[in-house]
Amino acid sequence: MDYKALLDRIAQEVAPLVGSGTPAEYIPALATVDPGRFGMAVADVDGNVYGSGDWERPFSTQSVTKVFALALALSLGGDDLWERVGREPSGNPFNSLVQLEYENGIPRNPFINAGALVVTDRLQTLTGDASSEVLGFLRQESGNQELAFAQEVAASESEHGDRNAALAHFMASYGNIVNPVPVLLDHYFWQCSIEMSCADLALAARFLARHGLRADGTRLLTRSEAKQMNAVMMTCGTYDAAGEFAYRVGLPGKSGVGGGIIAVVPGRCTVCVWSPALDEQGNSVAGVAALDRFTTLTGLSVF
Ligand code: DON
Repeated sequence: MDYKALLDRIAQEVAPLVGSGTPAEYIPALATVDPGRFGMAVADVDGNVYGSGDWERPFSTQSVTKVFALALALSLGGDDLWERVGREPSGNPFNSLVQLEYENGIPRNPFINAGALVVTDRLQTLTGDASSEVLGFLRQESGNQELAFAQEVAASESEHGDRNAALAHFMASYGNIVNPVPVLLDHYFWQCSIEMSCADLALAARFLARHGLRADGTRLLTRSEAKQMNAVMMTCGTYDAAGEFAYRVGLPGKSGVGGGIIAVVPGRCTVCVWSPALDEQGNSVAGVAALDRFTTLTGLSVF
């Protein structure tokens, strides 16, 4: 397949949508990003990478990193994690508190903020330095040793982090957060602040298309765990829009409020798209449209 020509065509087709929606404003450091940006990259299972537009320009990965933290927590700590976090779509916004009390401090899934905080807590217990573990993994898988935390974004989120702090303290009251909440929040905000390009992210997510195999051929996840992670991305990766995303795109995907989305075609390739203007659920408007075109034009989908 001529991925480069395909991505150029998609970039052209979705150009009228680039800038519709609003960049995330609740993290002030993100509100200043140019909403006119658009980039898209494909990495095949052999590590070839193709792109269009701003595909090599770093952006704030935010919730996309929840995928990598989960993979590491499962790889290092196994299935015990699932006693502390569920695998059902929440049908609620990504930062919602509302289900937690009814459900005894057990978040619905690892991709809403509450669930990701539990995953980071688990990774912190397993490694003693959760955010560095995620950063190291991303550097290795993408081959980009320059990847780094964006201190300004992490600080800005910490300063405006009352909602995440509330989620963490509330779960701690049920015994579902074991590390000190301020330590946990720092690692979570650092992890979210990592800046990567579409090319970096598509390369780093390849273990999901390679049935659990890392870039160097060693195994991160069993084939079955890779299937399970892709399934949770499909059902929960785009929050209360996961049904619509599955309908339009037909691939496992994970979005972030920086405007990035990764999607996986198991056995074949990963796709990363970035455009900062978001819809009301926090997903990139042009990004979802581009993935919709990708699967429609290629027929590549899990269905
Ligand atoms: O915790 C937060 O609110 C952000 N650091 C990440 C949220 C996010 O990316 C949700 N994505 N759509």
